[in-house]
Amino acid sequence: MAAVRYFLIPLLLLLTLSTLPFAMSLSENEALLKVRSSFTNAEALSSWDLKSSPCKDRWVGVLCTDGIITSLHLTDLGLSGNIDIEALGEIHGLRTISFVNNSFTGPIPEFNKLHALKALYLTKNKFSGSIPKDYFSQLLSLKKLWLSGNKFSGTIPESLSQLEHLLELHLEGNDFSGPIPPLKLESVTSFDLSNNQLVGPIPESLSKFSATSFADNDRLCGKPLNKDCNNPDETPKASGSGSVTVLLGIVIFIVVVGGLLAMCRSATNRKEHHDFSVLNKENEDDMVEVHVQSVNRRAESSKKGGDSKRGGSKRGGSVKSGMGDIIMVNDEKGTFGLPDLMKAAAEVLGNGGLGSAYKAVLSSGLSVVVKRMREMNKLARDGFDAEMRKFGTLRHNNILTPLAYYYRKEEKLLVSEYIPKGSLLYVMHGDRGTTHAELTWPTRLKIIQGIVRGLEFLHNEYASCDLPHGNLKSSNVLLSDDYEPLLNDFAFDTLINPSNAAQAMFAYKSPDYIQYQQVSPKSDVYCLGIIILEILTGKFPSQYLSNNKGGTDVVHWVSIAISEGRETEVIDPEIASNTDSLNQMLQLLQIGAACTESNPDQRLNMREAIRRIEEVPVS
Ligand SMILES: *[C@@H]1O[C@H](CO)[C@@H](O)[C@H](O)[C@H]1NC(C)=O
Repeated sequence: MAAVRYFLIPLLLLLTLSTLPFAMSLSENEALLKVRSSFTNAEALSSWDLKSSPCKDRWVGVLCTDGIITSLHLTDLGLSGNIDIEALGEIHGLRTISFVNNSFTGPIPEFNKLHALKALYLTKNKFSGSIPKDYFSQLLSLKKLWLSGNKFSGTIPESLSQLEHLLELHLEGNDFSGPIPPLKLESVTSFDLSNNQLVGPIPESLSKFSATSFADNDRLCGKPLNKDCNNPDETPKASGSGSVTVLLGIVIFIVVVGGLLAMCRSATNRKEHHDFSVLNKENEDDMVEVHVQSVNRRAESSKKGGDSKRGGSKRGGSVKSGMGDIIMVNDEKGTFGLPDLMKAAAEVLGNGGLGSAYKAVLSSGLSVVVKRMREMNKLARDGFDAEMRKFGTLRHNNILTPLAYYYRKEEKLLVSEYIPKGSLLYVMHGDRGTTHAELTWPTRLKIIQGIVRGLEFLHNEYASCDLPHGNLKSSNVLLSDDYEPLLNDFAFDTLINPSNAAQAMFAYKSPDYIQYQQVSPKSDVYCLGIIILEILTGKFPSQYLSNNKGGTDVVHWVSIAISEGRETEVIDPEIASNTDSLNQMLQLLQIGAACTESNPDQRLNMREAIRRIEEVPVS
């Protein structure tokens, strides 16, 4: 495999980091998706997709400078819910944030954790409550601050005085009350406090601004308003100021961990410059070598003596350290515990639609892939455990049976055997070198037939599910050394949060969902058809990309070719020379086309697809 660089970090570090409200080892793409998933109403951002590049593919609302994400411009989108500040903090070049004209509610989010922010626009939302007095003392680069048209209350935070670079300050149209603090706003040129409940004299330091900046605050007085404060109608009095919360503990923790993270981050950033929009490298290794050891000791001492027989009876494992233990669901490859995983050096494999994947080599010599799944909270622990144990019982030549899982409320780990050859996607498109040449026609036919057998098995095992597989695509088909396909990441529909399913699973990219908002076992047939066409044409299907930029629309291309009688032209030239087998190829091309029929009613069902594929003679 074309492993370029390696990134070795003890798995413990990865796990430890994930005890933070969310993990800090996110790529910026992942971070953006994480931000999106914190919104409750993010249909407008449905085009954001991990397999494309925010800058190159111009994700809606993401602005870049020289390939670096510098600005989020999420205006007029009807967004509501929360704003995941931690995830925003993962986008290191971010300087401007605009959420103008959305429907966010509640107190001001902790944007002040984003210390490098230069512009913050929250105009026209429904934010409310008071802003902590020292909120702005951590935002010293801020140049533009627009909070107008919300329901902020309490006093105007004094820490605004510390913003030496501030040029624009707009607080109009809120419920700010009390006296105006003696703000020093020397560089501010655009300033508006109108339409609030402010009282008392306008400080001398603000008297250079005009009356309109203070209008509609009935009880303000002073020079700009031509209202004499010594002769007021009412006595101005401060109303209670907002309480101040200092999240010092969190800040210190972030600073301490930050040093370690810096190393990971720089590696992660480099990785992002790989072309994710063309190739989702879910099952391969790249990365930079980094050793981080300091965290290892604690784990070993706290978790020493993991006995060799675990899982089975031990729900939740030993919870001494507060982390719980992994649960073995399949001990065919031996048993191991969290301490074994923690001691193993981990390589970052990449990020898929469901989370990140790491490779870990256990001291027993077994290599495993650990997938960190966020957005898998559909089932509570018991239900999740039952599904995992069912996974562990699956035995089929074309199924990769998971080995173990680890449950935590906010994320799950799924451990499976590492398959060195990697995914079909990788072998087909990742490296147009020697591996690709091995994909002769008999090998490709073997892969298609193996996939179909695996699918048939899943459609029997999960016969009552809408999506027995749900995520069939070439990156989820691993290849054994002799090119036997192994299906992976299946039957997740019962596990994934419904709000994330459409983004995380390929079956939701089928016309069934896009046109009819429905998925069914026939959606798996569509995914099968895409793989068949991918294998026959050798093209990277644009269907794997959310923005339809790049790749080949294999469905359209093949159907045109069939209608014009030019089928042989779409067959991958690398196999088309094998003229003895051309009939098999054309037969499969027809099946692939019938599987990708956009109307589910006219599409083959799984049973017919399987029968027709099994009928293709193996020469
Ligand atoms: C605010 O956003 C909504 C869509 O959420 C849009 O219809 C409306 O025109 C926007 N208002 C302004 C003033 O831009």
